[in-house]
Amino acid sequence: MKKTKLISALILAAFVCFIFTSCGQTEKDMEPKSAEYDLQNIADSIETAEGFEPQIGIVLGSGLHPIADEVEVVQVIPYDEIPVFPDSTVAGHEGRYILGYLEGVPVILMDGRVHYYEGYTMEEVVTPVRIMAKMGVKTVILTNASGSMREELAPGDLVCINDHISSFIPNPLIGQNDDELGERFVDMSEAYDPHLRSIAHEAARELGMELKDGVYMQVTGPTYETPAEARAYASFGADIVGMSTVCETIALRHMGVNVLGISCVTNYCPNVVREGTSHEEVQEMADKAGGGMVKLVRLTVKKIGEERAAE
Ligand code: HPA
Repeated sequence: MKKTKLISALILAAFVCFIFTSCGQTEKDMEPKSAEYDLQNIADSIETAEGFEPQIGIVLGSGLHPIADEVEVVQVIPYDEIPVFPDSTVAGHEGRYILGYLEGVPVILMDGRVHYYEGYTMEEVVTPVRIMAKMGVKTVILTNASGSMREELAPGDLVCINDHISSFIPNPLIGQNDDELGERFVDMSEAYDPHLRSIAHEAARELGMELKDGVYMQVTGPTYETPAEARAYASFGADIVGMSTVCETIALRHMGVNVLGISCVTNYCPNVVREGTSHEEVQEMADKAGGGMVKLVRLTVKKIGEERAAE
């Protein structure tokens, strides 16, 4: 009797294992994830004004939104007109692309991004930058707000991101590789283009502004750091921390797009100042420092455009 029970239990266990292993992975899972929303088709279906060939994409982080007023607008495309776009209205943001000319350079502004902490998958989070690349931009300027883990990077400072640490977020390239987008294994030795960084520094010098350098680390959020976390991240080699950008850089480098990252430090992390951080404080500082960031990005775009025109 005991033996029969044991055999039945073993058969049941084997059956359960079979169900788990065979049902867990469907054929769909084995496809390159991006194939289910053919990005090239979507990009091709977006009817851009005739003759408009965007050169530079600019992702507007906190503080940079006023740059939209400085663009000679050709076209506005709300994200909800684009199939497969993450529904950014869920997060209370109106997302849209603004196509137009900044300093005579054809640009696409990404006005509104979604974040991993809002509950989107990493693939959804990077879809808007991937579409921008498919629309033809070869250079993208990513901007953001960040907390500083170094005393010498103070609230209000602008930082040119010279490297990043991605290890605390899911990599957006996990899953079968979409060869249409890029190679399986992506070099990250110069994720932030050295030449673009030198142009941004030249622009800052001309404007008489200080532009510092630093390593940015993306965390999932939405919590701000504890003192121990901030100490740990600083000891890993990160200077500033935020909840965006790195995943976008990875997706763009996968597609061979050159990236420049500019961060506005909005607060000290609690390893430097133990006062605590609020969203209001972050927003307020980003708005305050935004004017400088707009000037810097504008002149950087002008210089990149001049260089392209001379090629
Ligand atoms: N931590 C994470 N993200 C942030 C911060 C911060 O202190 N400030 C602005 N974005």
